Amino acid sequence: MKSRVAIEPSILSADFSRLGEQAKEAEDAGVEGIQIDVMDGHFVPNLTFGPGIVKALRRSVGIFLDAHLMIDNPEVFLEEFSRSGANRIIVHQEVCKNLASVIQSIKKFKVEAGVAVNPATPIDRVEKVLDLADCVQIMTVNPGFAGQRFMEDQLDKIRSLRRELDERHLASSIVVDGGVDLKTAPLAVKAGATALVAGSSIYNQSASVAQNVELLRKSISSVVAGSPYVN
Ligand code: DX5
Repeated sequence: MKSRVAIEPSILSADFSRLGEQAKEAEDAGVEGIQIDVMDGHFVPNLTFGPGIVKALRRSVGIFLDAHLMIDNPEVFLEEFSRSGANRIIVHQEVCKNLASVIQSIKKFKVEAGVAVNPATPIDRVEKVLDLADCVQIMTVNPGFAGQRFMEDQLDKIRSLRRELDERHLASSIVVDGGVDLKTAPLAVKAGATALVAGSSIYNQSASVAQNVELLRKSISSVVAGSPYVN
């Protein structure tokens, strides 16, 4: 069954002094969710949010909250993030010795489970968990900061993941995160992405959140028209 391409603003680019309002603006703009970039300053060279921010955002919006854990030892925080109101927890393949068991632990807390892969990580590293994971997030930047350039060499990875999921009739979504803007969003969707995480192209000074979301949806409309996966 085809669904709309999910747009998830990443709050890393939002105005931290009014995070609740910025989340509400995204909700009012009709986005499918918000991605919260959790960074530990160790797995990635930046330090951001913890479960407390998820709890605060849960009080501000009703939409899907997606906790992207760019942290070492994510298994230590799964319960706290699920109790804080995250609807999905995404962990990185690169830090999980037993990825299947981490995914199963996430699901025990009744939240969706996703796995993310960095640009240098081959997609076959997650092949064994495709039937378990609710989504696979392809990083199209080296994670840590917003406003980086989309790595077009990751498009092949999206295409091969798309093929693998289709061959195995698996419904996991393909999330693309990093440098997604009006130029690169159509490339990602054409390659097989079903969800887009966008930070600086949604939260910026050039236009409102609603206008930027609208522009992003428009940028993919022609690709979506021809896609068998999304409408
Ligand atoms: C990695 C983060 C991304 C980033 C996206 O740095 O996980 O979500 O905030 O921001 P843009 O869309 O500006 O690359």
